[in-house]
Amino acid sequence: AMLALSSSLALSSLARATTIGFSQVGSESGWRSSFSESVKREASARNIELKFADAQQKQENQIRAVRGFIAQRVDAIIIAPVVETGWAPVLREAKRARIPVVIVDRNVQVNDDSLYLTRIASDFTEEGRKIANWLMQKTDGKCNIVELQGTVGATAAIDRAKGFNEVLSAHPNAKIIRSQTAEFTRSKGKEVMESFLKAEQGGRNICALWAHNDEMALGAIQAIKEAGLKPGQDILVVAVDGVPDYFKAMADGEANATVELDPHLGGPAFDVIAAYLNGDKDIAKYINNTGELFSQDTAAAEYQQRTNK
Ligand code: AHR
Repeated sequence: AMLALSSSLALSSLARATTIGFSQVGSESGWRSSFSESVKREASARNIELKFADAQQKQENQIRAVRGFIAQRVDAIIIAPVVETGWAPVLREAKRARIPVVIVDRNVQVNDDSLYLTRIASDFTEEGRKIANWLMQKTDGKCNIVELQGTVGATAAIDRAKGFNEVLSAHPNAKIIRSQTAEFTRSKGKEVMESFLKAEQGGRNICALWAHNDEMALGAIQAIKEAGLKPGQDILVVAVDGVPDYFKAMADGEANATVELDPHLGGPAFDVIAAYLNGDKDIAKYINNTGELFSQDTAAAEYQQRTNK
């Protein structure tokens, strides 16, 4: 019933414009930038006054921003958390001020789930399983893998690794030979991949790169090329996000597969807030938006569709 409610109607029925504070992680990846744009676009389409705070990948900045939103008595708060832990105190402050909080994307670890209204996110563990299954099929379960991990302590890194490793544990001839964080950024992805290549006979001992997001994979692809190898062939490349640049890399044969992560989280977050502010008491605690796996077969068409080129 809640989602059947037209949200613009619901919001405009409030006495004044709805003010929503949004604490965003940062702009570490193309995916994250699309997500921020989507929230801003949706807010202006719905006449919502959006207070946007970029935390530059630091939880302390997020906590400060959320406290600011509470002090300004916003109608609702959206948090895209950097890391999972450390949220209970500030969420309790929001609850005491009766301001609903929607968690989007990465998770928060709290014992009391009444501290937030709902979480809208992909199942990151499932993403890890999906991409690992694809790779195991592609390599007949025999593969030396190097892993670029996301931000330490972030759900997207913890759970993607968990899902991937779960599948790998059923394949004795597949193993992760090197693993390091590259903080979800392209520049770190390139830097860490360069060190992996050096350590593994210039890359000749590496069958595949598993990157926790497309952005790091795109940096790594550059490093593989500079080392004189062909990404997508000499070293298979798998990741998560489905950003346009990565579809282009797949269409060019330089990357192999990704699981799409939908960046359009603004609409669903505003829908659920509108429903709540209009009295809906029956809101699910988790709204799942896990995406599909894409590979080279459809990459050119998908790229065209996503960029209208
Ligand atoms: O939390 C989701 C991850 O964060 C995305 O996969 C990545 O691109 C972003 O930095």
